[in-house]
This record gives sequence, structure tokens and C-alpha cells, in this order.
Amino acid sequence: MPDPMTVLVTGAGGLVGAEVTARLTAAGHTVLTLLHRTPGIVRNNGRALVPGPGALIPVTGDITRPGLGLNQEDRRLAATADRIVHCAAVTDFGLPDERYDRVNVTGTRHVLDLALHARTPLAHVSTAYVCGERDGTAREDELDVGQRPGNGYERSKLTAETMVREAAADGLPTTVVRPSIVTGATRTGRVREFKTIYPVLRVLTRGLVRTVPGHYDCVLDLVPVDRVADLVTEAVLRFEEARGRTLHAVGHELTLRDFSDVLAEYPCFHVPRFVPPSAFRARALPDRERPYYDRVVSLYDTYFRRRVHFDDARAAVFSGRPATTRARPYLRRLLDHCLTTGYLGPAPRQVPATARPDGSTHR
Ligand SMILES: NC(=O)c1ccc[n+]([C@@H]2O[C@H](COP(=O)([O-])OP(=O)(O)OC[C@H]3O[C@@H](n4cnc5c(N)ncnc54)[C@H](OP(=O)(O)O)[C@@H]3O)[C@@H](O)[C@H]2O)c1
Repeated sequence: MPDPMTVLVTGAGGLVGAEVTARLTAAGHTVLTLLHRTPGIVRNNGRALVPGPGALIPVTGDITRPGLGLNQEDRRLAATADRIVHCAAVTDFGLPDERYDRVNVTGTRHVLDLALHARTPLAHVSTAYVCGERDGTAREDELDVGQRPGNGYERSKLTAETMVREAAADGLPTTVVRPSIVTGATRTGRVREFKTIYPVLRVLTRGLVRTVPGHYDCVLDLVPVDRVADLVTEAVLRFEEARGRTLHAVGHELTLRDFSDVLAEYPCFHVPRFVPPSAFRARALPDRERPYYDRVVSLYDTYFRRRVHFDDARAAVFSGRPATTRARPYLRRLLDHCLTTGYLGPAPRQVPATARPDGSTHR
């Protein structure tokens, strides 16, 4: 067990940051949690974080401001951190570029300034989708290879990660963890809030949009939040081994065919029809579908076009964990959790075990 450290975690109130904070305090470390608008820390299981045996020291700040907007006393505390974990970001899609630039790019600049000031080792949380709109294998050591980002969020994360690499080239100890699409817990499918891909699932499974542009062999990578938090925490605790590395925190690869087949197992769900993007015309959608397509699905349809595989060889060696398998059962756990909570409509009566290839049933 490493000596107790003090770790500054930005975005500690977020989905990933809360779980990283929980793991660090559980390992006996003191965490300075940079909170923004959300005052408390709620874990993925929906309960308030009970820290320990390490301490929790909440500070309030705003990464868009120099010095992270900390008051003098908190700035002094932050300067004593042994490590920084940078999770804070704006993660919603469809926002103006200016918002991504302010939080994800300028915010990362301010975190880097703080880290550079005291040469504090930095674990930066990026995204595997900095790979942009491409097919084939995206490797952990690749960054800017001239790719076209799929949206303003991806562009901002690519710029931020490039800045982190530049700081590393200037001697700042850094490591980068790149999650794919963060979803519910490995074992239960539970997720604290239904963001990212979840609203799309809701619109599609309710039949609010029935025709979607996409290739059935396109691949989406879903990674359980606990797997991401484990890897980020390990990268912090074993920083010297992680230093200079970029680690893909990826999980279950699912094609759109997998999605369609699994959705079809649920009698209460509509199954969307994917059509080649070149043949899709949003204006040809029925009037009732168009607003849902424009406001929800269109923000994600870039993910329905990519046939990308994230190579995680370095992360696998670093963490010693095998690649995840059994993607379809994981998707069922996510859907079951959504049904249990009512997010995807009322839970259906139990489905006969034979209805599912793995013999499991809805709870
Ligand atoms: N979720 C995913 O699917 C996913 C996938 C790949 C990579 N990532 C990356 O993983 C990291 C964590 O994501 P997440 O899912 O945990 O995101 P999240 O749940 O949206 O949390 C983001 C956190 O950033 C904080 N934040 C936003 N603006 C801030 C500001 N101006 N100053 C300080 N804090 C600010 C938020 O605080 P308030 O809510 O209080 O404003 C929140 O605690 C991010 O870097 C994200 O890009 C996420």
C-alpha cells in the first residue's frame, strides 16, 4: 500500500469523479474534491459518499477561471497535492463550441497551470473518441493523426489531450486515461444518472424515432463506470508505472446488430431500423419523429457510423485485467436496470427464460 497521499480531483461530483474519489479515500488517501455547482458527492449506487479511512476535503471552484477559481486558502491547499486527477468537463452533446472550449480546453489549461506550478503529477481523463470519425483500430499511443472529430465535444477533448501531451513533453509527469462510453456498473447495470447514450436508448426503444442512419456492423464501445474508476485510481496510485502512458478504459464492443437483436428480446421495446447514412433523409421522417431525431438522436448518429476498435493492450498489461467479454449480457443488464427504474417505461412481466439466449430473465 503506497504512503497516504493528498489527491486533488476535479469533477469529483461527476459520474467518474465520485467513484474515483470513493476509491482513493477507501485506500486511505486524502482527497481534495473540486466541486462546482453540485454541492455533494453521490456514488453510482445513488448513496452519498461516506469517505474513509482517508479524509475528504471539499473545495469549491470553477476550472474556467484562473487558479480554478479557488480562494487563497484552497489554492494553498491545492498546491500541496501529491497528484491531480482531472475529470471535470462538460460532457453533454449539442452545446455551442464556445462552451466546450471554455470548460474542456481552457479548463484543462488552468489545471495544467496548477500542475506545472508545483510539477504535480497529473492523471488526465480524456475520451477514447478523440480518435474521431474513423474505422479500424485506434491505438493508445495515437492522438492527432488528422482525424475529423465527430462533434464539438470530441474536438475539445482532442485539443485538451494535445495540451496535456505538450506539457508532458515539457517535463510534467502525466498519464492519460481514455474511457469510451461510460455506462452502468458491471454487475448490476446500475447507473446514477441517465446521460450520454441513455436518452438515445429511450427515444429509440419507445419508437419515438423508428428509422436511424447507421451501419449494422458499426461498433459502439460501452465501458462500466466501475471499470473506468478502477483504472483511473490505479493510474494515480501506481503513477510511476502509468507515467507517460495513455490507457484505453474500454469495455464491451457492441455492433448495431447486437443492439437490435438484444432490443428485440424485449417485447416492450421498439427496435429501430438502421439505414445506410447515404440513404437517410431526416426531412423524410414523419413530423412526430422529427423533433426527437433533431434533439436527441442526431447528436449521437456519428457513433452509428464508426467501425472502430479501441486497442487496450497497454491498459491490459498495466491493470492485469483481461478484456471484457459477453457484451450482450452486459447490455441486457443495462436495459434491465433502466426498466426496473422506469426510465425505459414500465418493467414488463417476467419474460420466459427461453426468450433469452443466455437463459436470464428480466427482474
Ligand atoms: N460519461 C462518459 O460517457 C465519458 C466518456 C468518455 C470520457 N469521459 C470523460 O470522463 C470525465 C468524467 O466524465 P463524467 O461522465 O464523470 O462527467 P459528468 O458526470 O458530466 O461530470 C463532470 C463533472 O465536471 C464538473 N464541471 C463541469 N464544469 C465545471 C467547471 N467549470 N468547473 C469545475 N467543475 C466542472 C461537473 O460539476 P457540476 O455538475 O457541479 O457543474 C461534474 O462534476 C470527463 O473528462 C469526460 O470527458 C466521459
